Amino acid sequence: MNGKQPIFPKWVDDVTRLIAILFAGGLLYVVVLTLYATSPRNTAVGYMPEQPIPYSHKLHVNELGLDCRYCHTGVETGAKANIPPTQTCMNCHNTIHNQSPKLEPLFESYRTGKPVEWIRVHDLPDFVFFNHSIHVNKGIGCVSCHGRVDKMEVVYQDQPLNMGWCLECHRNPTPNIRPVDRITDLRPIEEVLGIKTESGIEDACSELAAKYQVNPKVNCSTCHR
Ligand code: HEC
Ligand code: HEC
Ligand code: HEC
Ligand code: HEC
Ligand code: HEC
Repeated sequence: MNGKQPIFPKWVDDVTRLIAILFAGGLLYVVVLTLYATSPRNTAVGYMPEQPIPYSHKLHVNELGLDCRYCHTGVETGAKANIPPTQTCMNCHNTIHNQSPKLEPLFESYRTGKPVEWIRVHDLPDFVFFNHSIHVNKGIGCVSCHGRVDKMEVVYQDQPLNMGWCLECHRNPTPNIRPVDRITDLRPIEEVLGIKTESGIEDACSELAAKYQVNPKVNCSTCHR
């Protein structure tokens, strides 16, 4: 008869436990992310690994006039932009410079069927969700995230690619919007649009942002899922 009476009804207990679990879960999630983030990776602006073949974007894009999408075929349709297979290069190098020692790793790859071992330049941690097509189909050009690749002999990381950098644009994307048919045109926006005045450029970008209904999100689950 003298059984201990709980001070609070049982449901209070349940709710408290639920809150505790949710809180611990959320905290744990952030801790795990933080631990993950400290594992070694190359994240530095200016990171420029030496590639197995001295392939020059400056030559192929700027001088020969190839569009990015000739090689980076996934950029408008998928998460990955893709690095081109050997065959793409062989379309031309079957006949052009087909004895060049600089291209020997390419010819070897062609003979053996083993891909060229290109070294990754940009590499987000695995806990970050990223997708190219979402960006380029809303008018964010390559130049906003990769810089003037058309002027690079060797590709390097041009932007920090950290969380603050992603969020800065997600909070105010408008200045980075260009016409979707000009996403691979890496020139400054005033040259692309042919507009000189600052207010004219602002108006044009705002108009495009409205037309494409640009509205990036900033909640955590957008990029951490
Ligand atoms: C003829 C094929 C070709 C064309 C055209 C081309 N690329 Fe590339 N791109 C490559 C190859 C091969 C690599 C890997 C080797 C390297 O990093 O240089 C690469 C690498 C890159 C990288 C670095 C990828 C990484 O590892 O993180 C970026 C960024 C890039 N290209 C952007 C562009 C942009 C922007 C354009 C258009 C202005 C373009 N590319 C046009 C073939 C091409
Ligand atoms: C549309 C044709 C075309 C494609 C596709 C192409 N190239 Fe080239 N590439 C050329 C031409 C043309 C030159 C020579 C330019 C010159 O010598 O003036 C060249 C030159 C080069 C050179 C310098 C060779 C030397 O001995 O000086 C390298 C290296 C090279 N390309 C690598 C690649 C790689 C790697 C790919 C594939 C990712 C590729 N190219 C795709 C046309 C192409
Ligand atoms: C909003 C920023 C952004 C835009 C716009 C963008 N990229 Fe990227 N790109 C990235 C990031 C971030 C990575 C690294 C992705 C990863 O590690 O998973 C990357 C990786 C790449 C790679 C390496 C291979 C791959 O698919 O991961 C290539 C090639 C590339 N981008 C080319 C391009 C080209 C060409 C364009 C324009 C048509 C473009 N990118 C537009 C941010 C961007
Ligand atoms: C230069 C501007 C810019 C940068 C830098 C940028 N984004 Fe975005 N992002 C956008 C725009 C614009 C959209 C399209 C939003 C919409 O659907 O209207 C978008 C959409 C997304 C989406 C789809 C969900 C959504 O918000 O609609 C993801 C996921 C995303 N970005 C991840 C990233 C990550 C991760 C980075 C950094 C590595 C990054 N973005 C950097 C402009 C940018
Ligand atoms: C627009 C994309 C985006 C959004 C939204 C976003 N993050 Fe991130 N987050 C990133 C990227 C990219 C990195 C990797 C940074 C790096 O490699 O330096 C990252 C890294 C992290 C890390 C690892 C530590 C660090 O700073 O590198 C934590 C923790 C984190 N995010 C928590 C959050 C939380 C909590 C939210 C919501 C308030 C959030 N993120 C929203 C893109 C995003």
